[in-house]
Amino acid sequence: MTANTNTRNVKSRHDYQPPAFIISTVKLCFELDNTATKVTSVMQLQRRQAGAPLKLDGQHLQLLSVAVNGKQLSEHEYRLDDESLTLDTLPDSFELTVVTQLSPQTNTALEGLYLAGQTFCTQCEAEGFRRISYFLDRPDVLAEYFVTIIAPAEQYPFLLSNGNKLSEHIDSAGNRVVQWHDPFAKPCYLFALVAGDFDRLTERFVTQSGRDVSLELYVDKGAAAKGEFALQALKRAMRWDEQRFNLEYDLDIYMVVAVDFFNMGAMENKGLNIFNSKYVLADAGTATDKDYFNIESIIGHEYFHNWTGNRVTCRDWFQLSLKEGLTVFRDQEFSADMGSPTLCRIDAVKLIRTAQFAEDAGPMAHPIRPEQVLEMNNFYTVTVYDKGAEVIRMLQTLLGRNGFAAGLALYLQRHDGQAVTCDDFLQAMQDATAKDLSRFALWYSQSGTPELAVSQHYDAPSAQLTLNLSQHTPATTDQPIKQALMLPVQIELLFADGTKQQHLLVMQEASQQFLLPEIHTEPVVVWLEHFSAPVKLKADIDDRHLLFIAGNASDGVARWDAMQQFWSRKVAQAIAGNAVEDVLPEALVSMMASWLQQPEPDLALTAELLSLPDFDTLAEQYQQVPVDGILAALAGFKQLLAMRLREPLLQCYQRLPLSAYHYDQAAAAQRRLRSLCLHYLALSAVDATELLQQHYQSADNMTDTMAALAASQQAQPATFNLLIDDFAQRWQHDALVMDKCFALVASDPAEQVFDGIETMLRHPLFSWHNPNRVRALYSAFSMRNPQQFHRLDGKGYAALEQVVGKLDGINAQVAARLITPLLSWRRFDPVRQQLMQAALQRLANIPGLSNDVYEKVNRSLT
Ligand code: ARG
Ligand code: ZN
Repeated sequence: MTANTNTRNVKSRHDYQPPAFIISTVKLCFELDNTATKVTSVMQLQRRQAGAPLKLDGQHLQLLSVAVNGKQLSEHEYRLDDESLTLDTLPDSFELTVVTQLSPQTNTALEGLYLAGQTFCTQCEAEGFRRISYFLDRPDVLAEYFVTIIAPAEQYPFLLSNGNKLSEHIDSAGNRVVQWHDPFAKPCYLFALVAGDFDRLTERFVTQSGRDVSLELYVDKGAAAKGEFALQALKRAMRWDEQRFNLEYDLDIYMVVAVDFFNMGAMENKGLNIFNSKYVLADAGTATDKDYFNIESIIGHEYFHNWTGNRVTCRDWFQLSLKEGLTVFRDQEFSADMGSPTLCRIDAVKLIRTAQFAEDAGPMAHPIRPEQVLEMNNFYTVTVYDKGAEVIRMLQTLLGRNGFAAGLALYLQRHDGQAVTCDDFLQAMQDATAKDLSRFALWYSQSGTPELAVSQHYDAPSAQLTLNLSQHTPATTDQPIKQALMLPVQIELLFADGTKQQHLLVMQEASQQFLLPEIHTEPVVVWLEHFSAPVKLKADIDDRHLLFIAGNASDGVARWDAMQQFWSRKVAQAIAGNAVEDVLPEALVSMMASWLQQPEPDLALTAELLSLPDFDTLAEQYQQVPVDGILAALAGFKQLLAMRLREPLLQCYQRLPLSAYHYDQAAAAQRRLRSLCLHYLALSAVDATELLQQHYQSADNMTDTMAALAASQQAQPATFNLLIDDFAQRWQHDALVMDKCFALVASDPAEQVFDGIETMLRHPLFSWHNPNRVRALYSAFSMRNPQQFHRLDGKGYAALEQVVGKLDGINAQVAARLITPLLSWRRFDPVRQQLMQAALQRLANIPGLSNDVYEKVNRSLT
């Protein structure tokens, strides 16, 4: 069955036991110091299980003292090991005092309490609180927190924690002493502390019931102007959640802090979100349209967690999708309402078809509610998050928007203040709508990507359209047997006279036939409109019909998808040995030309319609990935299109007006289409250098600057080398922009990439301790540079192997994320397989390898 992780302590979902004790209140006192922070924890505990010992989690802590009801314990009255502190004989109700010491400065894992530059900050999800103090570090232990923070007043003007500030003063020793109280009982993973000096931006938000909330955003000194967009995005998110789901904020203060050292995107700590600065800071000169989009969506995401995650949390970590899938769905709906629903959906679909399908097809395959976990941090995955969001979206499709909203309202009201399961969520949905969701529940327990085969048959005499659907989910590495799932299949019928019909087919069985009566001419069927289920569609639609759908479907996502299907087929034909010129139909070229001449009202949709699928999307369609074939076909088609469409591309490029930078949907869409034209034009050779130079020089914003760099990198290496030097020079002091420079250098498709990376490693802003820097270089290299990563001499794999090995001792969580592209070695040709497998094997042999990397390497090699 699952991977052989027998030598380490794998946990199973079925082994859940309620806690033997609960902790009702915690008083924490932090005396901050870079290398010797003292933490005093005073907890009120109550026994829930007779006779059981109290086993508190703790890691990397120095225990100074333990007392029960004020009486100090001697060393033989407790048991201590690397992972826990155990007390055997205890009353039913008592006060426990634990004093520990820790060193934030040497905490390079960035879990628990650590230093981000000069700033003290915390990251406790999933199991980081155990690095702060001995505790029941599990999400079903909910306590009320009182926090005191003590630190030198001058150096630390801001001492922050969850909830409301009770008091602040400076003591006789010159220390600032601040007390916080969070009235909402919470699990320890939502605890947060921040201490440092910042620029602070403030705003007010009046909730729908008229309560006044103070909003505070903390950023590096001097960066205040770059926080304005995030702060306004927060207000939009707060208003949106009231309007869409009737959910109101519950504390008087909401704080967001941006730090440069952060393992993930951001964290929803109650009343005190901590963000990776890359998802807060933005201005026209330094942030791209994509950055702005991400900031709004992540600000929304963390805010939405206040209800879906904080007020109602997870009983255990196997239930993670309960909060993450739901909250990603909510942030996607928010982004769709703030901008273009079509573009948001296209981006979400791309992510599912690349990273998520790849996860299902690889050694880390797991259901959105995993069954077995060694290191929880390995399960903050695109499956739990994004497939989880697809599952919620399907629920909304099946129950209707109102039904879904009623179910969510019942869930939150029924479980407010509780730690619950995915089953509790489904139960509420079912109770609120009286729908039977028992088959739907399989989405939580079954891993893998369903394949949906469809066909149509039209009978003119009876005016009946028969639709045949059958589903099949191939076995995954974690689960051999699969069942039929409940699938909402949205379709549109396109008739020759221009009329259209929409239907929702709800599939519940392996094979099903749907009969549509009174259909008077045979329509073209648009299957799986808006990607209504996360499946691989197998439909035999001929080229002509695909182009018809691309031109005529009501849903922009379906139009884009038809083009993607079309290109997938063309790439397959090219790989099979056909010349690209021979497989490219004239009808397509003229259709693309007409889109350039008369773009859609949504210019970004036009850009998507004109874009070929990327390497990863195509790779997922093959059992064994034809690396060289895909790369050659993509290059060939792009080159051909660039030549054939040169005139309309140039005209479209020149016609798009240039105005001073502003981030909004229409302006971003315009830049997107203009960049796309530039990309193709760069490939058409004629005058490209001048055009690229000019695009770069005249840019008043980072989006256009990056477009010129990226386009020249793929087509005009000499120009790229000039521009990237200028860029690196210009932004050498800005870490977040240097990340873009690092990523560009690492995506260079030429062999010089290895020298480029070496050079960047010596850059003063590069640090192995900073996840943003490391990821900028190495995620770009391993995920956006298939040419060099998949080299047949193994140099690319070896580069990643070395980084993972090196990073494992510094920050195992980041190391384990970087390793992903190597895990799917079985999907490649024998030469590459052997090289990748050998690299994994060498990693497996590293003595003292972290659980994070061990779990993945081990599953992959087994
Ligand atoms: N809950 C956070 C979010 O979704 C992510 C925390 C990730 N933590 C981790 N250890 N991987 O926004
Ligand atoms: Zn989240």
